[in-house]
Amino acid sequence: MTIRAVVRGVGHYLPERVVPNSEFEATIDTSDEWIRSRSGIERRHFAAEGQTTSDLAIRAAQAALADAGMSADQLDAIVVATSTPDFTFPSVATMVQAGLGTTSGFAYDVQAVCAGFVFALANANGLILSGQARRVLVIGAETFSRIMDWTDRGTCVLFGDGAGALVLEAEEGAGTSDDRGILSVDLHSDGRYRDLLYVDGGVSSNGQAGYLRMQGNAVFKHAVQKLAETAHTALEKAGVSAGDVAWIVPHQANLRIISATAERMQVSMDRVVVTVQDHGNTSAASIPLALSVGKARGQIKTGDLIVTEAIGGGLAWGAVVLRW
Ligand code: UT7
Repeated sequence: MTIRAVVRGVGHYLPERVVPNSEFEATIDTSDEWIRSRSGIERRHFAAEGQTTSDLAIRAAQAALADAGMSADQLDAIVVATSTPDFTFPSVATMVQAGLGTTSGFAYDVQAVCAGFVFALANANGLILSGQARRVLVIGAETFSRIMDWTDRGTCVLFGDGAGALVLEAEEGAGTSDDRGILSVDLHSDGRYRDLLYVDGGVSSNGQAGYLRMQGNAVFKHAVQKLAETAHTALEKAGVSAGDVAWIVPHQANLRIISATAERMQVSMDRVVVTVQDHGNTSAASIPLALSVGKARGQIKTGDLIVTEAIGGGLAWGAVVLRW
């Protein structure tokens, strides 16, 4: 008998305001054509003034709990992946806990930037496998519009706001790759690449929130190589092969990265959930958003073998294999 962390529910929330690429043409030297062809992005959502990361996270959490048919009081833990918290502290997760009207269990944030959801999922899996929790709400939520330099065309057209959430529950499995739930985890980081993708502000440096800075082309090259590698390793650890994969649900940063990774894995694009055209890069929110949209579209079904993979600032990257 093996304990598995099985997905019971999924949900997402996107802020109302949709911003098409054409809106940037008025303020910076760019074009809808450049943004589409270089990134695959067509539009993104931006949070309203005063709408915070925890607001988005709470809405996504409510949707996931409803999908799971569970109440917040049944949760043992809430883990939020975010790099854009409402405040330096308390954590977004404790604000979600209060927002859901529960005092049960414990709540905290993890921060691994665009790889945040993969790290949070791995962390939640650890809580379940170690017996510290049976039911865990895992959320990715971001308001990256708050850290955009609107004069930097190399970054401000790429990111968006949103939140997605999963409810995981412990279940006994047979210990084979046919089990539902998380089957393997593969995580990495390399702090030598700090300057490729960072925010130029922080509490203990200059006391400011700062703006996102990125050497896009260099990150692109790392992404294409490292994502296929980590996905391959995670599949190997799970005892399955790329041919068994029903869906790759990748971090949604750039359609060219997504398709290059799929090609390296020898998985065709009709087995990849793609949402980047509608959401832009929502950092830690992008994978749970894609899982939720993929299920709503009828792509993801119970029993499907899924590999998720992401890379972001740090650099930090990794993959999780799970059976839905
Ligand atoms: O989620 C975290 C991880 N992040 C990522 O995975 C992002 C990785 N990087 C990327 O997605 C791509 O590198 C970008 C979409 C950011 C850029 O695409 P690229 O093909 O790597 O273009 P580039 O950075 O090499 O820039 C090509 C040209 C440059 O002009 P010159 O130097 O060739 O004259 C840029 O100045 O495109 C220019 N450019 C733009 N032109 C119009 C950069 N941004 C824009 C823009 N509109 N918004």
